[in-house]
Amino acid sequence: MKRNTEFVCSNCGYSSSKWLGKCPSCGQFNTFYEEEIIEKKEVSSYRKFEESKISSLTDIEINKEQRLITGIEEFDRVLGGGIVKGSLILMGGEPGAGKSTLALTVAGKIAKNDKKVLYISAEESDAQIKLRADRLDINSKNLFLIIETGVEKIVNIIEKENPELVIIDSIQTVYKETIDSYAGSVNQVRESCAQILYTAKRLNIPILIIGHITKEGMIAGPKILEHMVDAVLYFEAEKYYQFKILRSVKNRFGSVNEIGIFEMTSSGLLEIKSPSKIFLDNLQKEKAGSGIVTVMEGTRPLLLEIQALTSRRNFGVPQRTVIGVDYNRFLIIIAILERKLNLHLENQDVFVNVSGGIRIFETAADLGIAAAIYSSFKNIKIPTNLIFIGELGLDGEIRPVNFMEARISEAEKLGFERCVIPERVKTGNTKLDIIKIKNIIDILNIIKKGGE
Ligand SMILES: Nc1ncnc2c1ncn2[C@@H]1O[C@H](COP(=O)(O)OP(=O)(O)O)[C@@H](O)[C@H]1O
Ligand SMILES: [Mg+2]
Repeated sequence: MKRNTEFVCSNCGYSSSKWLGKCPSCGQFNTFYEEEIIEKKEVSSYRKFEESKISSLTDIEINKEQRLITGIEEFDRVLGGGIVKGSLILMGGEPGAGKSTLALTVAGKIAKNDKKVLYISAEESDAQIKLRADRLDINSKNLFLIIETGVEKIVNIIEKENPELVIIDSIQTVYKETIDSYAGSVNQVRESCAQILYTAKRLNIPILIIGHITKEGMIAGPKILEHMVDAVLYFEAEKYYQFKILRSVKNRFGSVNEIGIFEMTSSGLLEIKSPSKIFLDNLQKEKAGSGIVTVMEGTRPLLLEIQALTSRRNFGVPQRTVIGVDYNRFLIIIAILERKLNLHLENQDVFVNVSGGIRIFETAADLGIAAAIYSSFKNIKIPTNLIFIGELGLDGEIRPVNFMEARISEAEKLGFERCVIPERVKTGNTKLDIIKIKNIIDILNIIKKGGE
């Protein structure tokens, strides 16, 4: 008998009649799994009796209290100012990132404000969650735990209890009985999510679902859900050594690319409200091979230290090693330094590192990187009350970058005194001593002065 199956990419949901090694849609390798084809009729059965509502735009009322504020600033900001009622939020991350911890903390905060919260766990026992709640010092009568894996049952409970917030941990472990494939398969994850989405909208209850990402792809990645939900947050733990970063990659109700920074401690997630301070901790007064730069993370500027080290190599090809900076950008900066400042780096190993393990994707750090390399090579100390903002052009010209005022005001807040910026940019009102430069050649004067 011919089986009614198809092959589905567990990363993006692309389907094909035969197995493929590489997904033509998302480019991932070895992500195809065989699944039953679901009849479309069955898929939409949970909404077929509903009649569509029609309303004029002018009749729709919005009350101001549409958002639930958790009071965890780093979390609220990432969502654009709290949880929007009736929205479906997906929080993804690798196992151990701290998703359950953050979700329970959010649940605890909302429940503390006399609001009913359902925490539905499909992967841990109530004792395990209680243990975590004790560690986080959460104890509220309004927070209800439900251990349940069936989506239909979950929807019934939500309908009956009518809470103000629902958390489902995790989407990969819930399943719909009417679908004949294992929990975590693409079909299950997609259909469960569709039903949860429908519930959130119908009852106007915000639902936060947690999704695991694994490298093997056996469990359907939350990527296939991204287009369904209102907001997608990623909780990243690995990229930043000591911090956990909550990043919004999609948000129908706020700006994307906002980040929230946390640190995992024994009593829970600690909010890091002024990350620059920590990245710049223990900074000496002046230092060779160092340049302070600003990078924007969403709407928030971060101040970071670029460290450079050059060391003479007597034989062989000199090494160029960077951590946290784009390699090609770094090579361009080196070439500009060699040509424009006559710097002899051809027999030097050059290393560049960014403090705190942060990765820089912006060109605004170019000037700081150049200054750090120059000062290390010449062994001239640069005072660390000085920050560098500017992009380098191939001719050595310093180009303006965006968010100039935000960058400068953050530097001012953190007690910096001087700021090197491109010519012809508006700085707004600032107490900082602004040094405008046109070309990389001008930096020689500044660094020399600094070394005096
Ligand atoms: N007592 C503790 N002190 C510090 N960190 C802890 C403690 N207990 C658990 N953790 C950390 O919490 C993380 C697990 O968080 P969890 O919310 O369960 O992750 P996820 O749900 O994303 O898999 C682990 O990285 C672990 O190191
Ligand atoms: Mg978990």
